[in-house]
Amino acid sequence: MGENLSSGLGHLFEPRSVAVVGASERPEKIGYKVLANIIADGYRGRVYPVNPRHREILGLRCYGSVDDVPGEVDLAVIVVPAEQVPGAVRACASKGVGFLAIITSGFSEVGRIDEERRVLSLAREGGARVLGPNIFGIYSARASLNATFGPGGVRSGGVAIVTQSGALGVAMMGKTALEGMGLSAVVSVGNKADLDEAELVEHLVRQEDTRIILLYIEGVRRGERLVETLERASRAKPIVVIKSGRSRRGAAAAASHTGSLAGSDEVFECIMKQCGVMRAETVDEALAWCKVFDVAGRPQSEDTLIITNGGGIGVLATDACERYGVRLSDDLPALREAFSPLMPSFGSPRNPVDLTGQASADHYRRAFDAALDMAGVGAVVSLYCETAVLVSSEFTPVLEGAFRRYRERGKPLVFCLFGGRSTEEIVQVLRSRDVPVFTEPYKAVSCVGALYRYVRGLAAPVEEPVRPDIRVDRIEETVGAARADGRRFLYALEARRVMEAAGVPMPKSSTAWSVEEAVASAKRIGLPVAMKVVSRDILHKSDVGGVALDLESEREVVEAYEAILHNCRARAPRAVVEGVEVMEMVPPGVELIVGARRDPSFGPVVMVGLGGIYVEVLRDVSFRALPIGRRQALSMIKDTKAYTLLLGVRGEERRDIEGVMNVVFRVGEVLRRCPGISDIEVNPLRVYPRGSRAVDVRILLSESSTKEGSDAHE
Ligand code: ACO
Repeated sequence: MGENLSSGLGHLFEPRSVAVVGASERPEKIGYKVLANIIADGYRGRVYPVNPRHREILGLRCYGSVDDVPGEVDLAVIVVPAEQVPGAVRACASKGVGFLAIITSGFSEVGRIDEERRVLSLAREGGARVLGPNIFGIYSARASLNATFGPGGVRSGGVAIVTQSGALGVAMMGKTALEGMGLSAVVSVGNKADLDEAELVEHLVRQEDTRIILLYIEGVRRGERLVETLERASRAKPIVVIKSGRSRRGAAAAASHTGSLAGSDEVFECIMKQCGVMRAETVDEALAWCKVFDVAGRPQSEDTLIITNGGGIGVLATDACERYGVRLSDDLPALREAFSPLMPSFGSPRNPVDLTGQASADHYRRAFDAALDMAGVGAVVSLYCETAVLVSSEFTPVLEGAFRRYRERGKPLVFCLFGGRSTEEIVQVLRSRDVPVFTEPYKAVSCVGALYRYVRGLAAPVEEPVRPDIRVDRIEETVGAARADGRRFLYALEARRVMEAAGVPMPKSSTAWSVEEAVASAKRIGLPVAMKVVSRDILHKSDVGGVALDLESEREVVEAYEAILHNCRARAPRAVVEGVEVMEMVPPGVELIVGARRDPSFGPVVMVGLGGIYVEVLRDVSFRALPIGRRQALSMIKDTKAYTLLLGVRGEERRDIEGVMNVVFRVGEVLRRCPGISDIEVNPLRVYPRGSRAVDVRILLSESSTKEGSDAHE
């Protein structure tokens, strides 16, 4: 993977020279801290403090303006108050500075959107790219550059952190150092006026020393590009994401925090899965995953083995395996053969392999060696509850030695040690030597689960999106007519026309203007039929007696026709009746909801879930960003509980899942290709063993027919 310094973001991460605009000699100032970190952490390029009030700061010559700096400046860190930022940016732009890291707060995050735009356009005039504003800076191990006001002495390593939250980013720098985790880069993106996660990931994934990327996201902008980047990048390196704003209240707080539009969390969750990105529940969990991804191998087979000296903790780890989708090895003959000879007679070779409270360091060593040689075992979780039997000075080298042997063979081995002071000492020693050790079984297992998820994602082939043929001309004709009528929604018959042009299976139907026509239609469609008044003036057709169901004979069709007209005349005398629709009476089936809409963050998305009237209550829905292929379509259906119903419950026949995927593709294609449509909702889509029917379809129109979904969230 080549890295060209002079193109892309090369000089942001490896600047040959850095100016600190607003450098200060007062230690309590951010402008001091940034400069002091740059010097203390061993940056090898040229450093230029800029501040008109000083001639020298921290032993370096200080310049009155960036214009006065003699050589080129690749990166300028701006730490002057907000009102001084435009002037400083203008000076940097005219000097030809490549990158500006604007630490200063007080822009779009507090509603000063125009000021932020102005700063960006000033930077662009000189061709400079902007990080921030509202950031804590950038750390890059490649350049030994710590241009942040975070902690110094960062340990270099394989994890790159890109964070929207400054404070959390600073804290993560401290925490990773404490846990002995090495970082390749830490980039604070703040308000993302210009550079965002997508562009940074694009760069980091090509950077050799970055092995894992950790993203902390509050809100997504330009989501379509992010999806495209993450889908590709996650195949090259593991990407872990933490997103705040899971709760409604959290989402509102995030929106006001960085001025970002925090989208629906459910959509985010599903789309990260689609991208092969692993979303962690907590910061702690994310850091644990990164650590394990960095130091442990990748499982080669699906089965996991637990080795323990305590039954209870073994059961906890077993529960955790179920929760994190980790399959336990249950090849009893192989387990017996490997472990029975090396444990007391009252131990258990079943998985969890229980070496008993009597286990010594040597028991563990032999068990590790046996598990290492078991080809069917992809990963090992080793648990330990403190006992007086085991001598920690003997145990620590056994654990470290085993970890190294596993690492050489590419088999993950993670530890969970639980106990008092002597255990804590072992934990600290092992951590300082890059051994993945935790004190909580759920955490250890969660790491193994993440490894498996990643490996499974890699094994899935890259797929071509499915783009079915649809009659866009016919759809646009219908949309155009509704728009000419001043409407932002389609009537049922128009929605039906759109669905027919898209090839979505609808109940058979035709409109009758006389009783004879109604009878003829009913015969053509096949009894039983349903009938419904056609009138734009009547919104709730059943309320006025405008609907009749289950009509099983010609006589019932005749009577229903007359009754519908009579009821409407009596109860909605002013309504213009445009006919009576005769429809196939669709039998009951599994009811799904299938939809497509323009998400404010991610652009066109499709949705599928359990349909009917309880959609809102059950919220059993799954989303994907368009376009998608067959594997993603099936995976989104499998995400929902509705999938179990489609498979058939209690001897029911399996439903037409292929047919559901087809509807998802078609509805998605309409949204993707027809910018005039903003929302499509099929609810219910009744699904049968063979085929399905879109019983009710609602379609909303975009504000303007020319506006593409991708622009809507810029
Ligand atoms: N060019 C060069 N130097 C200048 C200019 C200029 N145009 N204007 C002012 N300066 C100098 C000042 O003289 C001062 O130096 P001095 O200490 O020698 O007098 C220095 O720049 C800083 O100016 P101050 O007015 O002292 O401003 P202060 O340091 O108090 O604040 C800051 C500036 C830090 C940028 C502040 O405005 C700010 O935005 N703080 C928030 C930063 C932040 O939190 N960012 C998000 C990080 S994420 C997180 O939450 C951790």
